[in-house]
Amino acid sequence: MEDNVSVGLLGVGVVGSGVISLIEKHQEKIAHQLGCHVHVKSALVRNPNKARDVDEEINGTALTTDPDDVLNDPEIDVIVEVMGGIEEARESILKAFAAKKHVVTANKDLVALHGAELHEAAAKNKCDFYYEASVAGGIPILRGITDGFASDHIEQLMGIVNGTTNYILTKMHNEGVSYEDALKEAQQLGFAEADPAADVEGLDAARKMAILGRLAFSTYIDLEDVEVTGIRDIELADLQYGDNLGFTMKLIGFAKFDGKQVEVNVQPALISKDHPLADVKNEYNAVYVYGEAVGEAMFYGAGAGSMPTASAVISDVVTVIKNMHRGVTGSQIVEPRFKKELKPKDQRFGQYYVRFHAKDEAGVFSRVSSLFNDLDISFKQILQNPSNSPDTAEIVVITHYSSLEKMHQALEELENLASVLDVNSFYKVEGDADA
Ligand SMILES: NC(=O)c1ccc[n+]([C@@H]2O[C@H](COP(=O)([O-])OP(=O)(O)OC[C@H]3O[C@@H](n4cnc5c(N)ncnc54)[C@H](OP(=O)(O)O)[C@@H]3O)[C@@H](O)[C@H]2O)c1
Repeated sequence: MEDNVSVGLLGVGVVGSGVISLIEKHQEKIAHQLGCHVHVKSALVRNPNKARDVDEEINGTALTTDPDDVLNDPEIDVIVEVMGGIEEARESILKAFAAKKHVVTANKDLVALHGAELHEAAAKNKCDFYYEASVAGGIPILRGITDGFASDHIEQLMGIVNGTTNYILTKMHNEGVSYEDALKEAQQLGFAEADPAADVEGLDAARKMAILGRLAFSTYIDLEDVEVTGIRDIELADLQYGDNLGFTMKLIGFAKFDGKQVEVNVQPALISKDHPLADVKNEYNAVYVYGEAVGEAMFYGAGAGSMPTASAVISDVVTVIKNMHRGVTGSQIVEPRFKKELKPKDQRFGQYYVRFHAKDEAGVFSRVSSLFNDLDISFKQILQNPSNSPDTAEIVVITHYSSLEKMHQALEELENLASVLDVNSFYKVEGDADA
C-alpha cells in the first residue's frame, strides 16, 4: 500500500480552498481510514499571485497556470476538478482519463451535459469518476441513492436543490417582501450571484435533477428532457393564498419513474405544510426520496459553501483511494438499465392551484365550474375575494388530481371565457391542504 497518494487540483477557489483546508485539518482521520496519507501536490489556478484564504495550508502545494503540470504529473493519481465552466473542464478531465488518472468533480453543469461521455472515457481507461458534490453540496445524496437504495425501486424524488431560490422564497413567505427585494438581499448576503439567471430561472436545479434522475432511475436523462419553470414570476399574493390554504411555495425538482416511463421537471409548487420539504428553509437543500421498499426518506443539509462542498469532494477522493487499494477502480456501472421513455402529459397527474380574475356578476361561478366539470376536473378548495379593481372578483381554486393535459386545456378555455379577465397563476400542488 502506498504511503502517500498525491492529488492534483484544478482550481483553488471557494471549493478548492476548502479541499486543501479539510485535507490538511483531517489528515489523521483520512489516514486512519485509508492507511495512507493524502497530499495535494499541485493545483491549477489562473493567477498564482492572488492572496488566498488558504495561503498557510497551501505551502505544500505547487500552484501552476499550466494544466499539463497537474494532468501529466506521473505521481498524481487523482484529479479533483473544481475550476468550473464546461469546455476547459471537459477537456482537462478527458486528458486526465487518457493519462489513467481518476477524477472527482463538483461541476454539475459539466456532468449534466457531458456525464455520459465522461463515464465512457473513465470506463475505457479503467478509471473512477465521481461527482458527489455536484448535487446538493455537502449532502451525500448521490451515494445515498446509488448505494443506500441499491436494492430498492425509487419511485419518486423531490428536491429543493437550489439554495438561492429557497432563500428568496423563504424570505418572501416569512417577511412578505417582494421577489425583487428578496433577491437583492440574497445578493448582498452572497447567496445569489450578481447575474442570478441560472438560479432563479431554475436551470441550476434542472442540471441537478438530470443527474439525480439518471442515477436514481438508471436511464439517461438529458438536460432538455427536464421541463423548467423558474421563480421570477411568483407573486406575493400566491404565497399568501397558499399559506392560508395550508401550503408553502418551494422551487421543487420532481422526478418520477414507474418502471417504464420517466418524468423530470423543475417548477415552483405549493407544498403542504405537512410535507417534510415544507420545513426546509433559507439556503438549505433537501432531497425527499420515495422508495418502494424504504418508503419515505429525506436527505437534508447545506447545499453549497466551501467546507460542505469540499467535504463531499473529499468523500469521493477517499472512495477512489479505497478502490485503488482494493484494485477495483473503473468498475462503476456505465450503461443505464433502461431505455429512456418520457411520460406524456395526458399520463402525468397532479393537483393544481389556479388564481384568476373574473367579472363580479351572477352566473360566473357556474360557467367556470361547468368548464372544469366538462373536463372531469373537480375542485378541492375554492376561495373568492373582491379584487382591488371595481366589479372584479379574485378567485383561487385548488383542484383534485387531473392530467396535466386536461389542466392545460382548462386554462386555455378559462382564458377565453368572456367573464374571465385574466388567469394570473398556475402552480402544482403537492400533498393535502388540511395542514
Ligand atoms: N461554491 C460552491 O458552494 C459550490 C457548490 C457545489 C458545486 N460547486 C461547483 O464547484 C466548482 C468550483 O466552484 P467555486 O465556487 O470553487 O469556483 P471559484 O471560486 O470561481 O474558483 C474557481 C477556481 O478555478 C480556477 N480557474 C477557473 N478557470 C480556470 C482556468 N481556465 N485556468 C486555470 N484556473 C482556472 C480559479 O483560479 P483563480 O483563483 O486564479 O482565479 C479558481 O481558483 C464549480 O463547478 C461549481 O459549480 C460550487
